[in-house]
Amino acid sequence: MEFKEKLAAYVRDIEQALDKLTPSSSTRPKRIHEAMRYSLSAGGKRIRPSLLLASRDLFDTKISAAPAAVAVECLHTYTLIHDDLPAMDDSPLRRGVPTCHIQFDEATAVLAGDALLTLSFELLATHYSSYPEIGLGLVNILSETAGSQRLIGGQMEDILGEDQQLSGDELNFIHLNKTSALIEGSLKMGATIGKASRDQIEQIADYGRCIGLGFQIMDDILDATSSSETMGKEVGADEAANKSTYVSIHGLQYSRSKLDELTEKAYQICADLNAPFLRNFARYLNERTF
Ligand code: IPE
Ligand code: IPE
Ligand code: MG
Ligand code: MG
Ligand code: MG
Repeated sequence: MEFKEKLAAYVRDIEQALDKLTPSSSTRPKRIHEAMRYSLSAGGKRIRPSLLLASRDLFDTKISAAPAAVAVECLHTYTLIHDDLPAMDDSPLRRGVPTCHIQFDEATAVLAGDALLTLSFELLATHYSSYPEIGLGLVNILSETAGSQRLIGGQMEDILGEDQQLSGDELNFIHLNKTSALIEGSLKMGATIGKASRDQIEQIADYGRCIGLGFQIMDDILDATSSSETMGKEVGADEAANKSTYVSIHGLQYSRSKLDELTEKAYQICADLNAPFLRNFARYLNERTF
């Protein structure tokens, strides 16, 4: 199968599983479930769950990765809802529609984020109970990935860094944690379901670090160069909030060449892993326009 078709098939599976494994919008209290579903189903590229499924498919296993894929997408969507709140980036648009706090209200958006975060761990605990070692491994990876020293740590330094002149190292800390952590974590979760060896998981995590840092560099580039119609979210938001980004610190040309360098490194790892789909995924992210 061509890369594009395989990716589309993953996305279809993810959307079906999202619909099946999350509470219906008629579940009481309706408002919270409506808000959760509103943000989950607004679209989104489904990058993290696709990487999780692809990583699992490198190995020979019968254990389904769909619940874990839904878990990472729920967790990711919670981070977006909270990232957009007035107290954080104060963004009105996400995935082409008004942000959760605009469509509903701030209290509902806070709660929808909280509920999606909690749901992600419930999904792991419920659906991997027949494989306790794998289930525990998944909870371990996701909690570390999303915790105060990684994703939240990156978000904290991102907020603290507003109106500050950050060094390249400080910015790398932010990007490797606020964004790359969940990308690496998703890949590690897929490999864990595939019962990969420790070395294989490390290699896959290295690939995740390359494309994860690259992903946020591209996000910074697109924030500076794209349009909100294309992105489905506000652009120019980083400059308006006086954030340090790859573009503001290093300039567009260096940012682009750093992204290419990381993509080349990802290709090398894919050659070692014999993982052509992940190689094409790195190229897709390198060339993405939204
Ligand atoms: C947006 O992530 C947040 C960042 C880490 C830059 P995505 O660009 O993957 O957003 P969706 O899921 O496609 O909406
Ligand atoms: C978001 O970074 C990272 C997380 C949500 C964890 P950004 O603030 O740059 O993401 P966008 O540009 O709003 O999607
Ligand atoms: Mg932010
Ligand atoms: Mg933001
Ligand atoms: Mg951004």
